[in-house]
Amino acid sequence: MEKEKRYLTFALTKGRLAKKTLELLEQTGITCEEMKDPDSRKLIFVNEELRLQFFLAKGPDVPTYVEYGAADIGVVGKDTILEEGRKIYEVLDLGFGKCRMCVCGPESARSLLNGQELIRVATKYPNIAKDYFYNQRNQTVEIIKLNGSIELAPIVGLSEVIVDIVETGSTLKENGLVVLEEVCPLSARVVVNPVSMRMENERITKLLSELNRVICEAK
Ligand code: PRP
Repeated sequence: MEKEKRYLTFALTKGRLAKKTLELLEQTGITCEEMKDPDSRKLIFVNEELRLQFFLAKGPDVPTYVEYGAADIGVVGKDTILEEGRKIYEVLDLGFGKCRMCVCGPESARSLLNGQELIRVATKYPNIAKDYFYNQRNQTVEIIKLNGSIELAPIVGLSEVIVDIVETGSTLKENGLVVLEEVCPLSARVVVNPVSMRMENERITKLLSELNRVICEAK
């Protein structure tokens, strides 16, 4: 008798990214009916036939689950991948959740960015900010970690600039701030555990090429 295939486990970022990912998976013929029940308190959902498992996690935890192999595959924003710096393979750009990581502030802060003074940078992404200022711009700055509503920082005088995600730009606009520099483009990515990639290469490669096909068709 053929040995039963092991489950491939997906860690999806709770919220919009998970919803979009499930829509995309559905287009490749992978469904998970259990996950659609809004009243369910279950944490892990199974597609028995395809031997797949799914669970939802907070964005920054997705790379952790994948690095440790608790999930074989993850879907998470590029911002989180960069910030967490885990040992995982980034294998596919899903093309949704597009936005930009930017240095922002009042227009008046532009000159400070090129000056000699030590400036303060508030951000939810201290590693990305550090890499950008220290390694790319060669500028020493003071980085202040915040957990949300980052746009407040330059308004109330906590920092001169911020490093934050800009999507539509309306939060900046409504608060009298502008994009001063772009750090990098962002979108949802598929990440894979390096050992899973070797051990389950055939299944994972097939799945990725199916996803890629659906993404290309939608373009
Ligand atoms: C994000 C980001 C910006 C805003 C950008 O915050 O930190 O504040 O969205 O979007 P926009 O360019 O379309 O206005 P989020 O709403 O995730 O909440 P947070 O402030 O708690 O991080």
